[in-house]
Amino acid sequence: MKPIRKAVLPVAGLGTRVLPATKSIPKEMLPVFDRPAIQYVVDEARAAGIEHFVFVTGRNKSAIEDYFDTAYELESTLQGKNKSAILAELERNKPVPGSMSFVRQQAPLGLGHAIWCARDIVGDEAFAILLPDMLVQAQPSCLAQMVEAYDRVGGNLIAVEPCEDPSGYGIIDPVDRSGPLMKMKGMVEKPPRESAPSNLFITGRYILQPDIFDLLADQGAGAGGEIQLTDAMVRLMASQDFHALEYAGQSYDCGSKLGYLRANMAYALIDPEHGPAAAELVREFAGPS
Ligand code: UTP
Repeated sequence: MKPIRKAVLPVAGLGTRVLPATKSIPKEMLPVFDRPAIQYVVDEARAAGIEHFVFVTGRNKSAIEDYFDTAYELESTLQGKNKSAILAELERNKPVPGSMSFVRQQAPLGLGHAIWCARDIVGDEAFAILLPDMLVQAQPSCLAQMVEAYDRVGGNLIAVEPCEDPSGYGIIDPVDRSGPLMKMKGMVEKPPRESAPSNLFITGRYILQPDIFDLLADQGAGAGGEIQLTDAMVRLMASQDFHALEYAGQSYDCGSKLGYLRANMAYALIDPEHGPAAAELVREFAGPS
């Protein structure tokens, strides 16, 4: 089995739930504590051995491309001021030359359509997808845990996490739930709580076989009038194995206003330098108990 070398990061969505913040700034560039959300996702993928990043971009997303480029003026100013620590960090964050590709999704027709836009660059190999508005705190990184599981079972793999109310999420239907890695027999979008097949929701990390691209090519619009990745995955499940991994870690959904606030708090609290002061701030806002 070939290793997972490529990851697709769809960033062409409009981010309407966090407007007006995203009117002129891509959602993925909003800072979560001290860095843009996209940096955490690229770090997660790098830690899993990903060598090539395919960004599916749209209008108003050029700030992402610039973020991963050299910033000559800024860097020489920092050099002049002997700011070596931050310079070293900027250097560490830079991608290996040639390891990032940017393809354009001309209209936000849905996540499935965005993934399909990456088909020529991914080619005929299994690949990862990371939805950049979902941040995951995990050690090893969520995608690294998935790659380790994929090396054992192959096929297609989806990261899942338990939730309290399945009616707000994409939920998997496991064959049995005897351990963290389970075979799937289906998935449903936002099932009523009483009839949900499990409480495990899909957290925005996938490893898929390239056959998904043929299915996406003729996938019609689904929920919300968008071409949905889930619909194509359900069709792929008819001919290929799908497993779900209940990984060890915690996801944060930055796609909503309160989710974004929660992510900021979570990342501030684990920061080695500022964590204790951030905890003090949380206590201050919570008031006397
Ligand atoms: P979301 O639905 O969470 O993102 O899609 P969105 O569309 O930006 O957000 P809202 O609902 O308007 O607030 C999940 C991921 O898929 C990407 C988004 O950028 C996000 O990372 N996406 C979605 C695309 O790249 N293209 C699309 O057509 C739709």
